[in-house]
Order: sequence, then C-alpha cells, then structure tokens
Amino acid sequence: MKVLVVKNQKDADRQGVKIFRQAYKHGARTFGLATGGTPEGLYRELCQSDLDFRDCIAINLDEYVGLDGNHPQSYRYYMQSNLFNQKPFAETYLPDGMAPSAKVECTHYNWIIATNPIDLQILGIGQNGHIGFNEPGTPFTSTTHVVNLTPSTIKANSRYFKDESQVPTQALTQGIGNILQAKQILLMAFGPEKAQAVKEALTGKVTEDLPASVLQKHPHVTVLLDEAAAALLP
Ligand code: F6R
Repeated sequence: MKVLVVKNQKDADRQGVKIFRQAYKHGARTFGLATGGTPEGLYRELCQSDLDFRDCIAINLDEYVGLDGNHPQSYRYYMQSNLFNQKPFAETYLPDGMAPSAKVECTHYNWIIATNPIDLQILGIGQNGHIGFNEPGTPFTSTTHVVNLTPSTIKANSRYFKDESQVPTQALTQGIGNILQAKQILLMAFGPEKAQAVKEALTGKVTEDLPASVLQKHPHVTVLLDEAAAALLP
C-alpha cells in the first residue's frame, strides 16, 4: 500500500489525474468510479485534462434504491453532470435503482463487473470506514447487494437533500468482494472528519467491522490524503 500525503485537496486532485493518466498509459480502459464529495475535484480536473475516455468503460460503485437517473440526487445524475457529459465514455454503468427486482439487478451488475474487469477503482471512505455502501459488518466476500443505510450514513448524505427524511433508506452497492477484484485501487480521503477512519483502515486490524481495512490485503492500493485526513497516522 502506497500512502501519499499532500497539502490540500487540490493537490490531491492533480495527483489523482496523474494516477489516471499513468493507468491509461499502461492499458487501463475500465475505470471503477465513486460519487460523493471526495472525487468531485478529481472529476473537475479530469474534465479539464486532455484525457480521452471514449474508448473506456466506467462502472460505478452504487446507486440509491428508488431514485431514477433524472433525480438530481441520484448517482447517475451526479456522474452525468460531474464527468460523463463533459468526458464521454464508450459505456457507463451504475446499478439501476428503479429495477423491478433488486435480486435480478444485483446478478446483472455482478455480470457486468465480471465481463469488464476493473483496471482502476476510485474509492472514498465513510466516517465509519465504509467503502461503496458496504457498512461495518459486511462480509469481505460480498458481491452486489441491497443495503439498508445506517443512520450515520443517512445523516452524512442528507447534506445533498432538502432534509434527512428525503434520503433513500436503501441502496444497491458493489460488494467488498467485487471491489477487491479491481487490479488497482485509489482511495482518497480529505478533511479531519475522515482522519480516524483512515487511521483504523491503514494501521488497524483487518476486520469486517471496518470495511476499508480490507484494503491492507490488496496488492495494488494507493491512498491519497490531505494533511487533515492523515493527521492521526503514526
Ligand atoms: C460513493 C460511495 C461512498 C463514499 C463515502 C464518502 O459512491 O461509495 O462510499 O465514497 O461515503 O463520501 P464523501 O466522499 O461524500 O465523503
């Protein structure tokens, strides 16, 4: 695991673009993407870069159950407005939050990931150590599944909604088993509120109680932190 600490988020975003560029140069064409506040700056930098993704595939981690792609808080909408509209990809995939059968959608999504192995996966981390929407206690072998969001995740994500009652209570997410299949992983974390989770994930016991700790077992992980998120590291 390689840990890079940079001064601020802007520097991290630029560093992230370099990692994308390197991966692309070495043949990466399938990118695993995340949503949320963490990668917004990275996507902005990618949009301004000369990188061309028209021969690439994007596969996202997760989507809320019950929101369609036109809903401004859906992850499809986020991806379109933050990246795909400016930088088109050949194919883009997110779980379908409106699928009539969540079970069928999960099987289908696992098939998409298996058919298009992810070369570089971008991850953010929740304050409780979640990756994707894999909350503490999720088995490391899990594949795409429906999750009931924890009160802390609902609260954290309510900043994007009118109020907490508008936040969906369920999501479809790639499992930890899917995430571990990615050939390379880039975990990004910024701000003091991530410092504890980062410390536990990088230096603590590998345990399903802190999902991101599993990354210690992956052979090719880069962790990109600003100084605040790295503050509790030894
Ligand atoms: C988003 C995702 C989540 C976020 C995490 C951090 O697709 O999978 O795991 O990466 O909740 O969220 P932010 O970046 O908003 O702090």
